[in-house]
Amino acid sequence: PSTGIGVRDQPEYALRKPDRELAHLAAGLPPESPEFAAIIHRSEIMQGVILKARMAAIRSIPVLIEGESGTGKELMARAIHDASPRRAKPFIAINCGAIPSELVESEFFGHEKGAFTGAVAAKAGYFEAADRGTVFLDEIGELPKAMQVKLLRTLQEGEVRRLGATGIRKIDVRIIAATNRSLIAEVAVGSFREDLFYRLAVAVIRLPPVSERAGDISLLIDSLLERINEQSKNEPGYKHKKISVGARNILLRHHWPGNIREMQNTLTRAAIWSDGETINEEDARDALLFAPTVGNKEEGDILTQPVNQGIKLPAIMESVATHYLKAALSETHGNKTKAAELLGLASYQTLANWMKKYDIE
Ligand SMILES: Nc1ncnc2c1ncn2[C@@H]1O[C@H](COP(=O)(O)OP(=O)(O)OP(=O)(O)O)[C@@H](O)[C@H]1O
Ligand SMILES: [Mg+2]
Repeated sequence: PSTGIGVRDQPEYALRKPDRELAHLAAGLPPESPEFAAIIHRSEIMQGVILKARMAAIRSIPVLIEGESGTGKELMARAIHDASPRRAKPFIAINCGAIPSELVESEFFGHEKGAFTGAVAAKAGYFEAADRGTVFLDEIGELPKAMQVKLLRTLQEGEVRRLGATGIRKIDVRIIAATNRSLIAEVAVGSFREDLFYRLAVAVIRLPPVSERAGDISLLIDSLLERINEQSKNEPGYKHKKISVGARNILLRHHWPGNIREMQNTLTRAAIWSDGETINEEDARDALLFAPTVGNKEEGDILTQPVNQGIKLPAIMESVATHYLKAALSETHGNKTKAAELLGLASYQTLANWMKKYDIE
């Protein structure tokens, strides 16, 4: 008997409707933008974001990309550059938070020989090097205030002056800036210049956190896992990893505070740790557990915490120890002798000491 469900009631049809509106908006754009293909997405919210990015890309206007850590800001910046008429010219990415403040000016604008101690030769800065291309100012909110003024002037005048130089040089760069905090909030508290903000925020692209990308997570899991499989193909003992339904459900329920980077790292761990060809629920759970939040740092990966900003080694050790002590005790139903064996600890007593140290019942 007929189910009575017509074509129009099928979910695919429902999904196509907003697509058509987007298609209408996109009229006048090049029909395809393969440059954005690396940004895996399917959700409506991301379709809207990509469309905006495509529209901004073809013009030389400044773009401000806002998004939490790991949402793909750098990936987006590169895609915009690649889709722009400047694609054949340099894309220079600068992490504004990583340059010591006393060096920022010479890194940005260059210097003449003898401009300061150690300036043994003249050197072009990033802006000169990026001439006719794109400068990506990552973590723009970290730019020292004194530099904010100089950057503003550079953008207004379209010229740079190397440190120690008398003359100026004309430059033509497109600016894409990124921030993982709200820049307008920084303006409100006075730590970011309002005039510079409005210079940079001509096109604003907000990358939503993974938790707002309904419909993307399953696709991301598949695509990222495929990429991981591809990358490990030539490694000894390579197995093509699949993910079980149960494991996928665990990942679908996770909130991904570290966004796509966290997904990538979690899947990599799960792929490495699973024995056979299938990532099962336990593998998924373990892989998630191994991304502890350390101190006040945002999502972190146990082995990739940037030491230069300080880490909390004791906290990391504690989370590793706690996880495995509990796992072994659960596995042996509380038998401490067996648990000690499983963990490679010398004796029941050693295990008891660890349990005491980490406050485990
Ligand atoms: N939609 C996506 N599809 C596929 N890969 C993605 C996507 N978004 C991000 N990635 C990947 O996730 C990782 C993190 O992305 P990226 O470095 O661009 O994020 P970010 O916003 O700059 O993070 P941070 O603020 O921590 O610097 C990269 O390896 C990137 O290739
Ligand atoms: Mg980044």
